[in-house]
Amino acid sequence: MRIVLGVGGGIAAYKVASLLRLFTEAGHDVTVIPTEAATRFVGVATWEALSGNPVSNSVFDDVHQVNHVRLGHEADLIVVAPATADLIARAATGQANDLLTNTLLMARGPVLFAPAMHTEMWQHAATRANVETLRGRGIAVLDPASGRLTGADSGPGRLPEPEAIFDAAMALSQGRSDYQLPLAGRTVTISAGGTREPLDPVRFLGNRSSGKQGVALAVAARNAGASVRLLAAHMEVPPPAGVEVVTVETALQLREAALAAAADSDVVIMAAAVADFRPAEISDTKIKKRDDTADPVITLVRNPDILQELVELRDVSDRSQLIVGFAAETGDGRGDVLAYAEAKLRRKGCDLLVVNHVGTDKVFGQDTNSVVILARSGSEPQLASGTKSEVSGAVISRVGFELNHVSPRA
Ligand code: CTP
Repeated sequence: MRIVLGVGGGIAAYKVASLLRLFTEAGHDVTVIPTEAATRFVGVATWEALSGNPVSNSVFDDVHQVNHVRLGHEADLIVVAPATADLIARAATGQANDLLTNTLLMARGPVLFAPAMHTEMWQHAATRANVETLRGRGIAVLDPASGRLTGADSGPGRLPEPEAIFDAAMALSQGRSDYQLPLAGRTVTISAGGTREPLDPVRFLGNRSSGKQGVALAVAARNAGASVRLLAAHMEVPPPAGVEVVTVETALQLREAALAAAADSDVVIMAAAVADFRPAEISDTKIKKRDDTADPVITLVRNPDILQELVELRDVSDRSQLIVGFAAETGDGRGDVLAYAEAKLRRKGCDLLVVNHVGTDKVFGQDTNSVVILARSGSEPQLASGTKSEVSGAVISRVGFELNHVSPRA
């Protein structure tokens, strides 16, 4: 595809360099048109080097080629990111005072705006009206993500992550109407990895969780426009870019982090493998092997069930929040995997339960997975299988569907 990438003058312009890479790596021919203000954040040389095409922001460069007409007409898709309040206003009022706004007026194909600005500017009546005007003309304006903005402020107005804009752009170019990011403006907390319960300064009780599923969920949620907080217990994979990471070790630390994060989360997904028990005592010094003593005995005590506690807290605080649990189940002589999982869903009271069938050779550390998503609402169990990233995509789509179409329990 021939893509015109319009870059507005906001600090988020630096993130658009990654978006440009995603487009070129997918084989698209990209012409970047920064506004004058955008070149104060990222220089023309960067856009030229990354796109492999000449870059201009003036209608007076290469006048004989009538660039503003040619670029607008030839583009299969125009993406504007970051779409600043100023750029949105200029586009809404049909101004043609630089190469980008000229090109927008000449566009024949789909146009996607990815806004980024301070929350007050995004919520200002003038911007609201301008966005409605653009949407009314068939221009796709993404809802911004929510989260840390340039200064100390935080709220809706963050540029969605490059992967999220890329996915929306591809959906729009395919004529799909579901380009809008399903989790835009939502805060999603995801726990991942396996907790470790110390016995002494060098030993712990742990589990086989690699963290891959939790990380894949964080990527999928981020790409769906959410502001993501990853509560990372022990993981064998690095956390993804563009998410806030809180590192924890034990179940008790995870509980504390989860309860704090849940207070302002629209969604909490407990994908971590949490130890159900911890040693009753942690030795300050390394436990010694002595020939004269009997075999050591480790006494375990129960850890709190974080998922259940999150559900109880949500219910007493009357908070509107979707809570998702994971269940690693093995069937046995007394029942099959689904029967156990349904009982667990009822016991824990979460809205969705994603059920894995595990054995030592299955799921843990593997790249592929097959799950059943059970809903408390009693809808049909949903099957999802494939790579952990495909399964995560299905789980996050289901989360988006529940949030946007089924009112979560308040
Ligand atoms: N979980 C939790 N706190 C715990 C244990 C588990 O929040 N102390 C969460 C997990 O993150 C997961 C879900 O509960 O989302 C199910 O965990 P699982 O280990 O499969 O279930 P258990 O409650 O431990 O039940 P059982 O061991 O009897 O299968």
